[in-house]
Amino acid sequence: MQYAEITGWGKCVPPAVLSNEDLATFIDTSDEWITTRTGIKERRVCHCNFSDMALVAAKHALAAADLDPMELDLILLGSLTNDSYCPNTASIIADGLGARKAAAIDINSACTGFLYGLHIGTNLIRAGAHKKILVIGGEFITHYMNWSQRDVAVLFGDACGAVVIEESEKETGLLAAKIGCESDAKFAIQITNLGSAYSRLSDEHLYNGWNFGGQEVFKRAVKSMAQACEDVLESTGMSLDDIKLVVPHQANKRILNALAKRIGISEDRVFVNVHKYGNTSAGTIPVALSEALEEKKIEPGDHLLLASFGAGLTWGAGLVRWSDRVNPLKESDADLPPCDKTALEIIQPHIERYLAHQNAST
Ligand code: UT7
Repeated sequence: MQYAEITGWGKCVPPAVLSNEDLATFIDTSDEWITTRTGIKERRVCHCNFSDMALVAAKHALAAADLDPMELDLILLGSLTNDSYCPNTASIIADGLGARKAAAIDINSACTGFLYGLHIGTNLIRAGAHKKILVIGGEFITHYMNWSQRDVAVLFGDACGAVVIEESEKETGLLAAKIGCESDAKFAIQITNLGSAYSRLSDEHLYNGWNFGGQEVFKRAVKSMAQACEDVLESTGMSLDDIKLVVPHQANKRILNALAKRIGISEDRVFVNVHKYGNTSAGTIPVALSEALEEKKIEPGDHLLLASFGAGLTWGAGLVRWSDRVNPLKESDADLPPCDKTALEIIQPHIERYLAHQNAST
């Protein structure tokens, strides 16, 4: 029996920090509202291309696995904020890494992009189709932010993470997963004017708006992630007692608390970093995994429960048995180019554009 061992992990969080106080300088909001409603204190803003972040995360993951990019068979990229749709961004990353033998696939399932990718990659390895796969999840979501929508603009940030999975006889890696999609509620999260729908052939196309049913998404997120977690546990014959740490999608601290309560696990066994980065969509789980390892919260043989939810409305959960190694084999010094601007300076042109558009339409 073949398994897909997670042998490498890495993250890239851009340096520019956008605090709640920064947001309150141009949005009718406050640190108090954002903190109490979401748990978010700050988020990061990317000053370069999304693929630059993905390359840095990938290089750290490859170093941790001590794997030459030429050995990769496949790159799976979960993101909805790709640099480019043609060529696809996974091929930009393959070229940047020098992964000349790797196939390259973009997966657009929003926040669940990493979990979907890990599920697909794991099963390709277990079926014998591939041996070494790089799974990336991340987002340059501030690029598409409508800075005049306070109910959305305070929630998101930019980051990227990656793991290497390799064929192994050890019973480790993603042992079970359940993924799904509540497509009847697909418009509960929508970035408008993005894509080739015929209705978008208008001069409005530069101005992305967000349709965001916050409360509906909140309720569905808790319910779907909890159900998926229970289904995955049942399919493996395990119980919550077997789980060391839940590593969920980081959208809102209140969602994480409600998830913990619903599945019946104490909050201290749920990994949380949403206060530092906000919701980085497909980036949340791989970044959280990297940080849980950095913080020594994962030990050899530990069982982890991953849970995710996002636009689509896609959802999923997965049970991971960690392998016998929790330290990187090698370190990479890969980093983003220096950033000489504050987060507010980076987004200032976008803020002006959206506020001007809002004023023109009222
Ligand atoms: O990754 C994808 C998954 N995404 C999510 O899971 C997000 C799920 N939803 C949420 O996290 C929460 O629903 C939100 C954080 C988006 C909103 O929290 P809420 O407790 O559901 O607030 P609400 O939508 O009920 O809004 C309450 C009030 C409203 O004012 P009124 O109508 O009561 O006067 C809003 O206009 O808060 C107002 N409000 C704000 N006030 C200050 C909305 N956004 C803001 C803001 N600052 N940024």
